[in-house]
Amino acid sequence: MPPDTRTTALLLLTILLLLLSSHTPSTADLPQFREAPAFRNGQRCPISTWPSNPHDPSTIHVAMTLDYSTPYLRGSIAAVFSVLQHSTCPENTFFHFLTTTRHRHFQNLNSTITSTFPYLRFHLYHFSPALVNHLISSSIRTALDQPLNYARIYLADLLPSTVNRIIYLDSDLIIVDDISKLWKINLSAHILGAPEYCHANFTNYFTPKFWSNRYFSSTFNNRATCYFNTGVMVMDLTKWRTNGCTRKLEHWMRIQKKYRIYELGSLPPFLLVFAGNVEGVEHRWNQHGLGGDNLEGLCRDLHPGPVSLLHWSGKGKPWLRLDSKKPCPLDSLWAPYDLFKHRPLISDS
Ligand SMILES: *[C@@H]1O[C@H](CO)[C@@H](O)[C@H](O)[C@H]1NC(C)=O
Ligand SMILES: *[C@@H]1O[C@H](CO)[C@@H](O)[C@H](O)[C@H]1NC(C)=O
Ligand SMILES: *[C@@H]1O[C@H](CO)[C@@H](O)[C@H](O)[C@H]1NC(C)=O
Repeated sequence: MPPDTRTTALLLLTILLLLLSSHTPSTADLPQFREAPAFRNGQRCPISTWPSNPHDPSTIHVAMTLDYSTPYLRGSIAAVFSVLQHSTCPENTFFHFLTTTRHRHFQNLNSTITSTFPYLRFHLYHFSPALVNHLISSSIRTALDQPLNYARIYLADLLPSTVNRIIYLDSDLIIVDDISKLWKINLSAHILGAPEYCHANFTNYFTPKFWSNRYFSSTFNNRATCYFNTGVMVMDLTKWRTNGCTRKLEHWMRIQKKYRIYELGSLPPFLLVFAGNVEGVEHRWNQHGLGGDNLEGLCRDLHPGPVSLLHWSGKGKPWLRLDSKKPCPLDSLWAPYDLFKHRPLISDS
């Protein structure tokens, strides 16, 4: 090869290697967060003893996802901060974090949590995308197709069997009330609790193929088809395990793969399995839609009524809008929980 060609080839190879490595950030490029203050229990708080006492009733279990490879880590950290800030007994909350990150970055993620929240009680679980990759169909928004978005389906399998109840929280929300109030709701005979919206028109959540097939559509016979958002759920994991709910959700995902019965991501299978059999939680616990719809991240207002949780579901995320200097009015409520350390524009090293 003449020297010119060799240089060009070397350059192309370098570019290729850079492209290949760009999806796994090097340690220096990992997002950095400020340390949150220590949150301590009030004097009247019982002492939380899970996991040494597996039946400890005073521990609140919260599950969330965390990943470096999605832009949601900043949101998850803000959500955790908001939970601690408004808890009467913050030390009684135990966080179960799910991540698809592996190897060195798994340890880095563990360190990121520990350095941001030195007093946090948590466990980091590896969620294998292989569990769900073959069941995911593409939806209208690629962010909805991330394997981690389906991790909530596998909580009953991944978490220790001594965790009987869990609050699942999305990463694009903040809680501005004591989470123990949500924890204590009575699920009656239900497996799942969430705010319900019974005026929703289900026609548009499923394709004509679904409605024209009598076997599929009859699943909603004799059920109140109430919509619920899967970003905030109280789940009875014991009943979930006994009823094989994970397998039921997977069943509908297989049908989706073959027949395309809906356009959204992980929500429709939840509607198919649970709609009409959900314990209705006060609407204050999921003021959702603040991110606008799935296509345009328009500004939205709160629904009327009290607010315990603000949820930026939809395409617009407060951290992106704040960074772009085009925030929506409600994004200023998220900003105080943001622990992300912005890098100086000009490095001084
Ligand atoms: C996470 O880090 C803590 C120390 O900060 C350590 O005790 C724990 O074993 C680590 N967890 C995992 C899963 O590596
Ligand atoms: C929960 O609600 C059911 C009725 O829906 C009632 O029978 C039960 O006693 C309640 N449990 C608690 C702990 O309040
Ligand atoms: C629900 O939406 C479909 C399609 O947009 C429409 O044809 C139907 O009339 C609506 N049903 C109700 C009860 O509003």
